[in-house]
Amino acid sequence: MTAIQEQISELFKNETIDFGEKLSALCTLLNQSLPHYTWVGFYFADHLSKTLHLGPYSGAETEHTSIPFGKGICGQVAVSNQNFLVPDVMTQDNYIACSVTVKSELVVPLFIDDLNVGQIDIDSDQINAFDQTDERFLEWVNKEVAKHWPSDFNPLAHLN
Ligand code: SME
Repeated sequence: MTAIQEQISELFKNETIDFGEKLSALCTLLNQSLPHYTWVGFYFADHLSKTLHLGPYSGAETEHTSIPFGKGICGQVAVSNQNFLVPDVMTQDNYIACSVTVKSELVVPLFIDDLNVGQIDIDSDQINAFDQTDERFLEWVNKEVAKHWPSDFNPLAHLN
């Protein structure tokens, strides 16, 4: 395990803070530890209204706190259930700009008991910032989240 994986494992083992706070701390940790991660956040899916809602995040405030399924990179991942790596956001037609400084993006779905409950969204101010190492790492992060997800945790009660 790498040093950051150790830190994330320790965070989830901490019994003194609740799960929502752990997700916030996770976003801060990723944003501060990895220089090519400029913005880190979770969007959670409301399958009834087919909308994503912004949960815990670290980085600049965004006006995109709700995103319909199918819209933008995040909304497409809500439908496809697949990772979406965007080396250059300027090449994407179906893209929602949160900031003009963002150049690349990686979105990895979060599954709890095989249901896509949302995603982790990473933005970078560098073009072509992400590769398969980031994909594998964020899949691992989301598996850690899923492993420790309390059975009574309602992500839609932890929105921004
Ligand atoms: N760029 C995303 C919107 C979310 S912001 O990056 C925080 C998208 O196209 O879905």
